[in-house]
Amino acid sequence: MATLSMQLSSETKELLPGVVLLQQHSQTAGLSGPRVSLSDGSCQATALTNIAASYGSGAVVPRPPWRTLAGSDVATLVGAEPIEVGQWVAIVQVPERILRHFRAIRDAGLQNKSADVVFQLAGSEEYALGLRELLAEMTARCCKPRYDGAGINTRPTGLSTCTVNSNTGLLTGMHVDTFYSRELELRALSPNRICINLGAEDRYLLFVNLPLREMRRQLEQLGVRDARINDTGRGLAWAFFESFPSYPIVRLRIAPGEAYLAPTENVVHDGSTEDKRLIDITLTILGTFAPDTFRDGL
Ligand SMILES: [Fe+2]
Repeated sequence: MATLSMQLSSETKELLPGVVLLQQHSQTAGLSGPRVSLSDGSCQATALTNIAASYGSGAVVPRPPWRTLAGSDVATLVGAEPIEVGQWVAIVQVPERILRHFRAIRDAGLQNKSADVVFQLAGSEEYALGLRELLAEMTARCCKPRYDGAGINTRPTGLSTCTVNSNTGLLTGMHVDTFYSRELELRALSPNRICINLGAEDRYLLFVNLPLREMRRQLEQLGVRDARINDTGRGLAWAFFESFPSYPIVRLRIAPGEAYLAPTENVVHDGSTEDKRLIDITLTILGTFAPDTFRDGL
């Protein structure tokens, strides 16, 4: 990787080469306007005085304000060939022939119905049909889709980060997924995921554009050697944010009917419902999606 000779400092505010954003999947995936923005680093969730109590101890969130990308950040995030496994994010437009099966759910989102209503609709025959079609298309493309462990989800509005720890009921903050729990050196080979915005309003994917292995290398170069750097659960992420509080978190806007593909086992990330007015509704499927899986559309 091109990052081998680059060392972060606690002041660094520019993106280092790492996880790249692929643009070929969506005509609207340009980097101008509000599609991508960068945080002013990260901070403890306790700084969010309005919802700090909703977060677990030690949770980390993006630090506002958000800014648009400078030219050098665009060049870094768009990246160059070859695309490395486990180090890319893409936006996909889900075609209408599939979205039509989820129209009732989107309409419920538009009317800001409750999560109960959404889950009731997710029990309908129409929803099951849409899901079957989606999984069949992914299977035909050798994506080995897995519906367990993810599926349909709803989140309230106004959350800087929206993932909840199912054990505590508290927000986790920026985190790494552990459905596959591979050791750090093999994390990049973990399956990734597709997450479709089934709601009626934009939502956001947040991520640090450095894979876990690069995060650990940066900490080692800084002289951080404690056990946290081998803890892919959260120790590594928290040590990184502690040492590099100015490093920006990328915020990617996902419009209704769009999906993101992301290596959530290999990058620190979360969803965000900040600025939303309507209930957040997503459908997530785990799998092994390659950079060209949806090059010709889904
Ligand atoms: Fe996650």
